[in-house]
Amino acid sequence: MRKPYIAGNWKMNLTPSEGAKLAAELKDQLKGVDVKVMIAPSFVTLPAVVEAVKGSNIIVAAQNVSDKESGAYTGEVSCQMLKDLGVNDVIIGHSERRSYYGENDEWINRKVKYALSQGMNIDLCVGETLDERKGGHLKEVLSRQIKVGLSDVSAKDMERITIAYEPVWAIGTGMTATSDDADDAHAYIRGLIESLYGKTVAENTIIQYGGSVKASNAKELLARKNIDGALVGGASLSADKFVPIVKCALE
Ligand code: 13P
Repeated sequence: MRKPYIAGNWKMNLTPSEGAKLAAELKDQLKGVDVKVMIAPSFVTLPAVVEAVKGSNIIVAAQNVSDKESGAYTGEVSCQMLKDLGVNDVIIGHSERRSYYGENDEWINRKVKYALSQGMNIDLCVGETLDERKGGHLKEVLSRQIKVGLSDVSAKDMERITIAYEPVWAIGTGMTATSDDADDAHAYIRGLIESLYGKTVAENTIIQYGGSVKASNAKELLARKNIDGALVGGASLSADKFVPIVKCALE
């Protein structure tokens, strides 16, 4: 049985004081709600948010991490720095990192392997662009992103990996994949995981959907067999919008 997992990727939004305020509201409003919840503030907002959610089950994640241990890598943040703050979860391979900052599947795989070696839990993002979908390349793109992204990752390590399927054309556009399209893509990803790790790992892997998720579409998406949660962007920036999405996972 896969436990629903709802995550909020705050992207480059919310200062430390704004983030602490939202985190405190979430802690209060999600008290007793039995859904796995994660929020991912910017690096500088992490300490304030870690402090604000203390005493709750809300997981605090980073939005990115270096594939290196330490050294002369200006502007980078290491797993060790995150863990020192009490942050043990990280989003890797978001499409905005891939498209704006040139992260490719090999680089993403190095980050995945290094973060796993440091005991971290990972939310690995995959998804196709509109051109790739229109050109009939959906399966080829997902297959490459999953196989290369998880290269040299063991079946045991898969217990610490969540996959987020985020079709690039649905991110921040208001265009959500239909629940049929999303469920088909999720089923395909689960099949890829089965081919790599076998049925049990595939059945236990949480696959979140991301791309213009809101309270009005979350219920329909989460009701689908292969959709185990959501990675929410814009609608995770206020408790009014995010809490109802989390509660959709209860039904
Ligand atoms: P939106 O929910 O704003 O479309 O963003 C989705 C996303 O990229 C989450 O990582």
